[in-house]
Amino acid sequence: MKEVMAEVLFSPEAIAARVKELGAQISKDYEGKELVVVGVLKGSLLFMADLIREIKTPLRYDLIAVSSYGASTSSSGIVRIIKDIDVSIENEHVLVIEDIVDTGLTLRYLITTLSSRQPASLKSCVLLDKPSRRKIEITPDYNGFVIPDRFVVGYGLDFAQRYRQLPMIAVLKPEVYSAEKNGEKEGN
Ligand code: IMP
Repeated sequence: MKEVMAEVLFSPEAIAARVKELGAQISKDYEGKELVVVGVLKGSLLFMADLIREIKTPLRYDLIAVSSYGASTSSSGIVRIIKDIDVSIENEHVLVIEDIVDTGLTLRYLITTLSSRQPASLKSCVLLDKPSRRKIEITPDYNGFVIPDRFVVGYGLDFAQRYRQLPMIAVLKPEVYSAEKNGEKEGN
C-alpha cells in the first residue's frame, strides 16, 4: 500500500513508544483506582488495544460508536450514538479513548453525554490532536501526538473505511481522496 502514501508521520516504533509513555502516565494517575475505558469505534480500536496493555491499574473496557457528519455539515455539530456502551458508568472513573480530535465536536458530544451519567471522573485520551481545526475549545487530558492540518490514515484511522490496517500513521496522496470527503462519516 506504499503507493498511496505521500508521507509517513509516525512509524510503528514511534507509535509504540508513545503509547507506552501514555500507558505509564495513565497507570500513575489512576493508581489505586479501577478504570472503565470507553473506546470510540471504529478508529480507536488499534490504539485502545495497545494502550490498555500498557495500563497497569485494573480496568474494564466497553465500546461506543458514533456518527458525525462530513465537511459540508460538520459546523452543525450533529453527532449521534449508533451503539452505546453496555455498562453503567455511574460512580466509575471513565477514560474515553478517541483516535483523533479534529473540530472537537465529537469529543465534546461524548464528554457531555457521558458526564450526564454521573461518573466519578471523566477524562479523554486521544492518539492525535489537530488543534488548528478546532471549532470549539476542548483539550484532551492525554494526547499522543499533535499534528498539523493534514488528513491522516493508518493505525485505526480510515479514509472511506480503508487503510485502517496500516501499522504507521501516514498522509495519503491528494489524488486518493480528492474526489470524495462529503456525506456521513459513519462510525468514526
Ligand atoms: P471531530 O468531531 O471533527 O473532532 O472529528 C473526529 C472524527 O473525525 C475522528 O474520530 C475521525 O473519525 C475523523 N477524522 C478527523 N480527522 C481525521 C483524519 O485526519 N483522518 C481520519 N479521520 C479523521
